[in-house]
Amino acid sequence: MDIHGRSALVSGAAAGIGRATAVALAEKGAAKILLVDIDEAGLKQTAQLVEGAGTKAVIRVVDVTDSEALAKLFGDAEQDGGLDIVFNNAGILSGPPAFPDTPLKRIQLLIAINFTAVLEATWHAIQMMKRKGGGGVIINTSSTGGLNPYLSDAPYAATKAGVLMFSRSCGPLIETDGIRVNAVCPGVTNTPILAKTGGDKVADWLEPLLAQIKVLQPEDIADAVLGLIEDDTQSGEFVVVQNERIAETA
Ligand SMILES: NC(=O)c1ccc[n+]([C@@H]2O[C@H](COP(=O)([O-])OP(=O)(O)OC[C@H]3O[C@@H](n4cnc5c(N)ncnc54)[C@H](O)[C@@H]3O)[C@@H](O)[C@H]2O)c1
Repeated sequence: MDIHGRSALVSGAAAGIGRATAVALAEKGAAKILLVDIDEAGLKQTAQLVEGAGTKAVIRVVDVTDSEALAKLFGDAEQDGGLDIVFNNAGILSGPPAFPDTPLKRIQLLIAINFTAVLEATWHAIQMMKRKGGGGVIINTSSTGGLNPYLSDAPYAATKAGVLMFSRSCGPLIETDGIRVNAVCPGVTNTPILAKTGGDKVADWLEPLLAQIKVLQPEDIADAVLGLIEDDTQSGEFVVVQNERIAETA
């Protein structure tokens, strides 16, 4: 899909990968981007960057776990001409204490944001794109953490594996409706999420890994997302953005 002149929605757009992708979409000439997050101040900063690249930015402060608010978000977008591109990217880690001592309430929130909301938003996007006709592209953020077993945040790994299989399973929609659903699996990326792994610091279990790898930048993930959007053959596919290893495993 040629991004120029298209309408897009990016969730988790107040920071990190979502912000970088919104800016990259704007730089490719997207006409309008709905910036979705719970962090209004961060959304305003992203909106400035998007507008600076010449694209209309619309801020929507929405908690993606609020099903009614999510339905309204897509309903409003449809009334306003629909969306060609949807990037379901908002996500959290479990944070401390590491699994299995993670509080159950935190695990429930993690599942609601990382998994349930991604499925619901994909469903809304598919229904909206089907009614409009002409197809569309949906990208969901998984993780390299969803590819391999990982005890310290097993619930996170499970949600990301779920998002990956869900997105892959939607692949045949390209044949029936011209809608392409794909996933991106970022490796460890330099965003505010890393500093939250241990509460207000990097988690103890993450420090040794950080010493062994080159941390990715959010723009690296945005590049991969744009590649999936632009390549009309990609449906039910996923791109893994790996960290380069800079030291041997101890
Ligand atoms: N940074 C990494 O190393 C890494 C690696 C693999 C996957 N990911 C995934 O990438 C995605 C983006 O993360 P990031 O690294 O940019 O982190 P981030 O913390 O910078 O961005 C996540 C955004 O999601 C928003 N968000 C959280 N809960 C929300 C909710 N209920 N409703 C709406 N918005 C909400 C946050 O406010 C934040 O702006 C996440 O799904 C994350 O799991 C990140």
